[in-house]
Amino acid sequence: MNIIKKLQAKKNKSKIVCLTAYSKNIAEQIDQYTDLILVGDSLGSVLYNFDTTRKVTLNMMIEHSKSVRKGISKSLMVVDMPYNTYRTKSEALKNSKKVMKETKCDAIKVEGGIKILEIIKYLIKNKIPVMGHLGILPQSVKGKFKFKGKTKREINQLIKDALELEKAGVFSIVLEGIEKKLSTTITKKLKIPTIGIGASVDCDGQVLVTDDILGLTKSKIKFVKEYINLRKYISSAAKQFRSDVIKKKYPSNKYLY
Ligand code: KIV
Repeated sequence: MNIIKKLQAKKNKSKIVCLTAYSKNIAEQIDQYTDLILVGDSLGSVLYNFDTTRKVTLNMMIEHSKSVRKGISKSLMVVDMPYNTYRTKSEALKNSKKVMKETKCDAIKVEGGIKILEIIKYLIKNKIPVMGHLGILPQSVKGKFKFKGKTKREINQLIKDALELEKAGVFSIVLEGIEKKLSTTITKKLKIPTIGIGASVDCDGQVLVTDDILGLTKSKIKFVKEYINLRKYISSAAKQFRSDVIKKKYPSNKYLY
């Protein structure tokens, strides 16, 4: 069974664990606990301090993904296609092919529903495995993120989007910032797995940004759970190094040739 089919087979059996990675060192540490590692374009805000993911380039995604690939031995690797790299069928195919070839990832992810359906269908027809992304679409948001699924119109649209994406052949869909009950409803309506982020515990899997769970970002987002405060450990290590250097304790002979 190929790695994508294996992931899909988890639906209704066991939960799917997903995290982001932007480098080999992080990918290597999380790989044994994840089913899917996403090189998310969230790297724009997390690493580059951009105010929007729209500033992330294809080259940035490719270079980080090449590094991540070196740290993965078993998880499915998905790479986000950044803003303005999949506006037309031909642009999307050219850029996705480049990402797949240069990074050796297993699949790409694009943000949007019915509006980009023809592009998604075209990619799949051309053998590019695609993961969907519905709800809060950071590449389309100007200003504050607002959770989705409040109005009847939004609810109907999201259900329609999810069903159409499934019909088009995406292998899984990320549901980001969608009201809990609606996320459960969408998950039950689909045969493919949903991966929630601020969605519902009933989604088939969950994803979070690794830098957030490590406490590197001081995120205030409601759905973020900080599992460790690495900031504390990093500053403590830097403080000890500073002290060693100033007191000439480092490098002692043990560290010299
Ligand atoms: O860019 C990203 O990291 C994402 C996840 C938050 C789903 O799309």
